Amino acid sequence: MRRAPFGAWACAAVLALSLGPPLSALGQGVAAQAGDQALQSIERGRALLANRTETGCVLCHAVPGFAAGGQLGPPLAGVGQRYSAEQLRRRIADARVFNPQTIMPAYLSTEGLQAVALAYQGRTVLTAQGLDDIVAYLMAQAK
Ligand code: HEC
Repeated sequence: MRRAPFGAWACAAVLALSLGPPLSALGQGVAAQAGDQALQSIERGRALLANRTETGCVLCHAVPGFAAGGQLGPPLAGVGQRYSAEQLRRRIADARVFNPQTIMPAYLSTEGLQAVALAYQGRTVLTAQGLDDIVAYLMAQAK
């Protein structure tokens, strides 16, 4: 294999440096990074809740932090106080566990579904990370 001319390597190195985190960020403590991650999770959760075509949560629920919300499901204000994060996770993952007749979609299950849209066949609506992010948002509203 022909080696790339030195110029190309130098460019790649400069690019890698400029794309990397700023030097000041490298000094941040672990706690600050954990805080950042929690904030990012809450932000992603908010975006997922707001997504009317992908999750549709706000079509059925009034969600704290959103102006308009649906009324097919109970308002989600205060759910972070009434439930633990794990309980919330289970309700959103598959609400049928608590009420087999529920109209709420199962967001982390592919079991026993009917008339599944082609795009969702064989996959869950949310990823485990997405579910965690939504739970992080709802828990953060309780504080
Ligand atoms: C088609 C309407 C519908 C959609 C869409 C929907 N839900 Fe629900 N949800 C319900 C209904 C109805 C209930 C009441 C529980 C039942 O049916 O047994 C419920 C219950 C809940 C509960 C428990 C609330 C409580 O006070 O007990 C949570 C939390 C929740 N939903 C979150 C979500 C999230 C997050 C999304 C989006 C990822 C979502 N829901 C999407 C209809 C919906």
